Amino acid sequence: MSFTQGLEQRPFADQVALVTGAARPRGIGRATALGLARGGADVACLDIARPYEEAPLHGTASHDDLDSLAAEITALGGRALTVQADVADEAAVEAAVARVSEELGTVTLVANVAGGSGPGFGLGPLLNVGVAEFRRVLDVNVVGTWLVAKACATRMVAGGVGGRICNVSSQAGKRGFPFLGPYCAAKAGVILMTQTMALELGPAGIAVNAVCPGTVDTDLMNKDSMFENLMGGPEGLAAYIAREIPLGRLQSAEEIASAICWLLSESAAGVTGEALNVSAGQTMV
Ligand SMILES: NC(=O)c1ccc[n+]([C@@H]2O[C@H](COP(=O)([O-])OP(=O)(O)OC[C@H]3O[C@@H](n4cnc5c(N)ncnc54)[C@H](O)[C@@H]3O)[C@@H](O)[C@H]2O)c1
Repeated sequence: MSFTQGLEQRPFADQVALVTGAARPRGIGRATALGLARGGADVACLDIARPYEEAPLHGTASHDDLDSLAAEITALGGRALTVQADVADEAAVEAAVARVSEELGTVTLVANVAGGSGPGFGLGPLLNVGVAEFRRVLDVNVVGTWLVAKACATRMVAGGVGGRICNVSSQAGKRGFPFLGPYCAAKAGVILMTQTMALELGPAGIAVNAVCPGTVDTDLMNKDSMFENLMGGPEGLAAYIAREIPLGRLQSAEEIASAICWLLSESAAGVTGEALNVSAGQTMV
């Protein structure tokens, strides 16, 4: 049983959580938002969510996904607030966190999940990647993570309430992967920014950690097309998994969400500045 499935004791009761990148149906953010709600939190779900017909082109959630997530959280008994915003947009993030604070209360649990890379978004040999897409990968994964943490932590400090922040990095933030240059640079940045935040915010009672997922079966990975094609079809993918991943399988979004929820819980009270691998053994450094 995963940590998120054992939350009946509602460790997050009376707390307000903010999850970015929350809406895509098979994503890590959605599983995290539902885990926090199951644990008793009121959950603000922030996502770039685009109109239904545009979402697949951009590889993002749709407005409908955001609405259905809110309905699922409400069905679990919690309050939900949805906010459509780009984490890389400073004004939008500030407005979003101000609205969440006003409508739900001060955010004390932050899951910075929004991020990624993909075709036209930093994926490919470093010699071919364009400057604009390299910068966009840094903007979404690093600057966006910082902006959300900053807006929330500023309010935690002002209110003297403390809190817990979990940033989503990647195993690609710990070692290089071909064709993921901008993403590796960005996710490595998230790890060192996490350590720095932990040092600066610790005295205010705010713990800051990161999770480093391995290879997770979500729509970002899109194993049926991108990943399987890169590996030479289903057989190539199976060989890659057998060779590279000690536990012999991809991870699920639920498994990553479970680690995030644990790091956001009092069960992890002694942990800060950590970058926790959740990679089925694919990365151990
Ligand atoms: N899937 C993997 O194998 C894997 C591995 C390591 C790390 N990660 C990281 O985990 C996180 C979640 O990945 P996932 O696999 O669940 O991806 P996903 O594509 O399923 O979900 C990402 C979510 O973020 C939203 N989003 C994208 N850009 C945004 C922006 N600028 N502002 C706000 N929201 C935005 C999308 O709409 C979507 O809902 C990402 O940071 C990713 O880099 C994923």
